Amino acid sequence: MDKTINIALPKGRLGEKVYKMLEELGYGCPGILDNSRKLIFEDEAKTVRYFWVKPSDVAIYVEHGAADVGVVGRDILLEYQPDIYELTDLGFGKCRMCVAGIKDVTPSTDRALRIATKFVHIAKKYYAEKGREIEIIKLNGSIELAPILGLSDVIVDIVETGSTLKENNLEVKEEILNISARFIAGKAAYRFKNAEIGVMTEKINSWLAAKEKENEK
Ligand code: PRP
Repeated sequence: MDKTINIALPKGRLGEKVYKMLEELGYGCPGILDNSRKLIFEDEAKTVRYFWVKPSDVAIYVEHGAADVGVVGRDILLEYQPDIYELTDLGFGKCRMCVAGIKDVTPSTDRALRIATKFVHIAKKYYAEKGREIEIIKLNGSIELAPILGLSDVIVDIVETGSTLKENNLEVKEEILNISARFIAGKAAYRFKNAEIGVMTEKINSWLAAKEKENEK
């Protein structure tokens, strides 16, 4: 049986960081960080096979068994609730899911709050718990434009450095949750490649513990 671990990496800075960690742990794959358009990389010993995928699609590949493991933000797991196992909090890619709006402006409470977001489920759940009536406007990017153009009262979106908000005269109104990258596994993969995935997870956990110790110094 094929015991190669198929790993879905999110394209971009987070994925590169995760790859470098895995390389240090003995799962290197030559040429993977070269700027090519190639999407699949396999090491010579066929221990691992990497796929570069759109960050928001990682959990889809893993849930459907096209990849055995992957790395995905907690925001995606909470929004789409994929049927996967969450193995480890990698602590990378830290950011916050926030309600943000125009600086020094408080939206009217006389009517439903209009919210622009990519994260429909997270926004609905948050406001349902608060008992606030809302209207969702689903967008796919550049969410910050919505309150500026009067399309919404506020946005529910990810804030990392805060510079996108600042440069657009917006501010955080409320914090909803903290986000970081998670190492996940597909349910079938976890069963059939349990030993291989277990070894990889242990190595990751030891690597994280060593880093934490180093940071404490
Ligand atoms: C995300 C998010 C914010 C921005 C926050 O957008 O939607 O726009 O990053 O980062 P900051 O606090 O460091 O400025 P992304 O770059 O993913 O693009 P998007 O507009 O397509 O959502």
